[in-house]
Amino acid sequence: ADLDAFITGLPKAELHLHIEGSLEPEQMFAFAKRNGVVIPFDSVEDIRAAYSFSRLQDFLDIYYQGAAVLQTEQDFRDLAYAYFTRAHADAVRHAEIFFDPQTHTDRGIAFETVARGLFAGMDDAQRDFGITSRLILCFLRHLDEEAAFATLAQAKPWLDRIAGVGLDSGEIGNPPSKFARVFAAAADQGLRRVAHAGEEGPPAYVTEALDLLGIDRLDHGNRALEDPALVDRLARAGMTLTVCPLSNLKLCVVNDMAAHPIPRMLALGLKATINSDDPAYFGGYVNDNYRALAASTSLGRADFATLARNSFTGSFLPPEEIARHL
Ligand code: ADE
Ligand code: ZN
Repeated sequence: ADLDAFITGLPKAELHLHIEGSLEPEQMFAFAKRNGVVIPFDSVEDIRAAYSFSRLQDFLDIYYQGAAVLQTEQDFRDLAYAYFTRAHADAVRHAEIFFDPQTHTDRGIAFETVARGLFAGMDDAQRDFGITSRLILCFLRHLDEEAAFATLAQAKPWLDRIAGVGLDSGEIGNPPSKFARVFAAAADQGLRRVAHAGEEGPPAYVTEALDLLGIDRLDHGNRALEDPALVDRLARAGMTLTVCPLSNLKLCVVNDMAAHPIPRMLALGLKATINSDDPAYFGGYVNDNYRALAASTSLGRADFATLARNSFTGSFLPPEEIARHL
């Protein structure tokens, strides 16, 4: 109980959160209704019952389907604001938020609608809660390089508020090498780079993300632990890993929270952080992820303080703003 209270009030940054993955079932119903979109569920309970996954792709199928209720600038603003309301309650001070523009542009929603809506939610959250935030534009890796280049071009007018680019969706069979050129183009435009790697994919995909994408941060990275030389490289580079415990459990990346690799990552000198990934689908926001580890592992106050500290030092905030949070 003491540790719970400590976690609740611990100031933190969130570095791995897909805004589309914060769409709660109640909100899915409300948006469907106000937009006249038909969804294949009769009730909120019906939706929650569908959230049982045995691998990443099971989740992705339902996550892309759910995103279809997002239609207007107001929807994206309200989605973001609802996330920040939860994040504020969890003592989140700064968030670097993934969005998947292709999920929306491929069904006829303009990039501008998505961007304007999310920025409005971000502005309102800064005003009401003092939370700072930036966006990270993710390319869907199951789509091709040409589509990623087209998405990067659409982002051009908004680059002042986009911290960087990322890579998400189905990992196996879609290695980082597929996006080496588009990441190089993003780097030329001054964008930071992150990528999901080693969630389901092999350690070699993590190595590719380092060598071919020039990543500044590694999303997940669980399977890097299978390769001691790679662990050593990540530790020596001071690479931040954005790890997502409840996601790992729900997607069967780990079989048991007691066997979660975060304690091992810290012991190996890796800069791990705790994040919620897709909180509406995986059973909890960032503090729920901290608490799940507190309940099932021997991590204590000092460890959680280190993990929260890592979330600021691993962020893309300027050094003077990082210092203000430590
Ligand atoms: N898109 C949303 N969440 C994701 C995850 N955990 N892995 C890959 N793609 C995602
Ligand atoms: Zn993710």
